Amino acid sequence: MTDQRVTLHDPDDRRLPRIAPACSLVLFGITGDLARKKLVPAIYDLANRGLLNPAFSLVGFARRDWSAQDFDDFVRSSVEKYARTGFNERTWKQLSAGLRFVSGTFDDPGAYKALAATVEELDHSRGTGGNHAFYLSIPPSWFPVVCERLAETGLNRRQGGAWRRIIIEKPFGSDLESARELSEVVGRVFDEENVFRIDHYLGKETVQNVLAMRFANTMFEPLWNANYVDHVQITMSESIGIGTRAGYYDGIGAARDVIQNHLLQLLALTAMEEPLDLSPASLRAEKEKVLKALRLPDDLDATTARGQYEGGWQGGERVRAFHDEDGIPADSHTETFAAITVHVDTRRWAGVPFHLRTGKRLGKRVTEIAVVFKRAAHVPFENTELGETGQNVLVVRVQPDEGMTLKVGAKVPGTEMQVRDVTMDFSYGHAFTEDSPEAYERLILDALTGSAPLFPHQREVELSWAILDPVLRHWERSSPPEPYRPGSWGPESAHRMLAAEGRTWRIP
Ligand code: BG6
Repeated sequence: MTDQRVTLHDPDDRRLPRIAPACSLVLFGITGDLARKKLVPAIYDLANRGLLNPAFSLVGFARRDWSAQDFDDFVRSSVEKYARTGFNERTWKQLSAGLRFVSGTFDDPGAYKALAATVEELDHSRGTGGNHAFYLSIPPSWFPVVCERLAETGLNRRQGGAWRRIIIEKPFGSDLESARELSEVVGRVFDEENVFRIDHYLGKETVQNVLAMRFANTMFEPLWNANYVDHVQITMSESIGIGTRAGYYDGIGAARDVIQNHLLQLLALTAMEEPLDLSPASLRAEKEKVLKALRLPDDLDATTARGQYEGGWQGGERVRAFHDEDGIPADSHTETFAAITVHVDTRRWAGVPFHLRTGKRLGKRVTEIAVVFKRAAHVPFENTELGETGQNVLVVRVQPDEGMTLKVGAKVPGTEMQVRDVTMDFSYGHAFTEDSPEAYERLILDALTGSAPLFPHQREVELSWAILDPVLRHWERSSPPEPYRPGSWGPESAHRMLAAEGRTWRIP
């Protein structure tokens, strides 16, 4: 009898961890905050988990005049400070042998020649096999120049079975038009299948759990529609201010920074139909259908809100107003809080508003999707006996306390039929012993293995801008953002926008 078992090297064997092939990652903007705090540590964590081929090499590209040793020190200190997994000398030895640094400005043709030589050297000395990914963690105004230079040097051209990919960080433009222009520039140099747009929320375990929860169980889907759902609230709040990111944030604001990407992606996953499978094409097709079906209410004054944090006290600490932050002009109209309402015009969701909000310097750091169910049409108790019951709510706790909560009414112990809200909790921390990997670990590994389901397609990016653009234009013509107290839950207009519908925001 022939042995039908798969061999250890069968790439379709899903029992095996996916390991990135021999390749390099060229990181533009390596000295930036994101690279130092998230990307470099994620690369180390992947190496530590045995998920990178030993030939993996990391090339830093930046303006600094660093020696190889300076770069080594930089990477090591970032790893020691921010990596999720412990420092391991063996991993470090393997990783540091593949570190290279190219010094130059993003528009300097000479620096790209040096980069091409470095990449070639890696192919020979480390066996990276012509596989190279270019990660742009830089202001988007530089994307066109970098793409052009990569093309001039031939760095975008793959040979034989090797690959060349580009990984780009948001913002993908600042409105629909600029997003299209950007995409055209990138598209001239890399085929769509080699473009990986990072929305790091899609790399979070709890975000992927939305799919698991909805489609691996039988009990939620029958209720997941306008017959039972009253409305949905998606919140991403942060207690921090903008810190040192004035250069990026001013003029961008909360809606472009978070709603256009993270929150609309969360909405799409919450509202979409079941995909045929988890291939990029199937997933994107379902998300796109939702994004295409989005509609803003007519009255944008009443159904949106924006605010800017004031100075004051937060958590026992004195904090500055947004317009007093370093690098922010005193008359800046950039919003640090944004809330919008959208409808999904499909049979499943007709009449169910989706309320999205995000902001800095709010009550606490939390991201959650709350599906609020309708009240029971009839209950056989007196109203008074219902005590404090509210509506059933299913909350997907994206972070920080990852898990799910179901709020239901239950009988209060005693001789009367009194009902009160209780919660049923699932917590990742209790249910699983393994720590969740960081979103960037998952996404970098996916990009290096060429797995695209967790990367939004350009069509999704454009559909998201198409829904946000009218809100942004409306705000430009309106009065400046309303001030709100640090540590609060945003400006009064945000509360009014839900109160007008007889609803209230959850206090997470
Ligand atoms: C980024 C935004 O995309 O997400 C930041 O640009 C925000 O403004 C950050 O602080 C939050 O990410 P996380 O993973 O900490 O929720």
